[in-house]
Amino acid sequence: MIDVAFLGTHVRPAATAVVIDVLRATSTITLALASGYERVLVAGSIEQASELRTPQRTLAGEVRCARAPGFDLGNSPEETASPRTPELVLATTNGAPAIVASAEVADEVIAASLLNLDAVLAHLAGAEDVLLVCAGTDGRVSIEDVYLAGRLSAALVGSRSDAAQIAEAVAASYEHAVDALEASAGAVGLRREGLESDLAFCAQESIVAVVPRLSATIDGVTVLTGALSAAPATPASAGLT
Ligand code: MLT
Repeated sequence: MIDVAFLGTHVRPAATAVVIDVLRATSTITLALASGYERVLVAGSIEQASELRTPQRTLAGEVRCARAPGFDLGNSPEETASPRTPELVLATTNGAPAIVASAEVADEVIAASLLNLDAVLAHLAGAEDVLLVCAGTDGRVSIEDVYLAGRLSAALVGSRSDAAQIAEAVAASYEHAVDALEASAGAVGLRREGLESDLAFCAQESIVAVVPRLSATIDGVTVLTGALSAAPATPASAGLT
């Protein structure tokens, strides 16, 4: 069964949880691992992330879309394109808690974005119990996450829940991915902070072939590493994979 949780707080046990926060946590995690960070440590809060600082780690995260005070990076994917340290620590408002919550109940957890769409689909081929977990925005269902859930659901083989069919209908109503991102509440926050270029960046499809995957949970911190997918990435991704 392919099912969708429309909010990160609605996650339930599943064989595979696919966490989606297009704007921007899972896009950032995907690009960070594709760019050469060896691990992304996902923290449940800004405070927890701060406590993880070591010389081997770069701290990234946002509060209301802006870089968290004292952090090295915000939550724009492109900020992770040149790794500074082996590990990236990430804390965000919605996406990071959705990943941490999924790691508590699912057998396998991966992170999906438009950036690694084909790679995620290749990874999920043959999977039978898939929960697409939309992070949402500040406790509300978000267009861009449901859009990607619908794109993934429509491309997978298997029976679909009503929620999956609803997500597919949402996805089908947008001609281009960027239209869904532009229409979202997340876009309002990014524009407010002068970060609207992240919309076009996060709307790019299948530019990397990396699938972020849960490798460990240590003291409530979720450790993701990158698995290379068999799916070919577009030539633009050559330098990133
Ligand atoms: C989140 O996790 O809430 C988002 O990634 C927010 C953002 O756009 O930075």
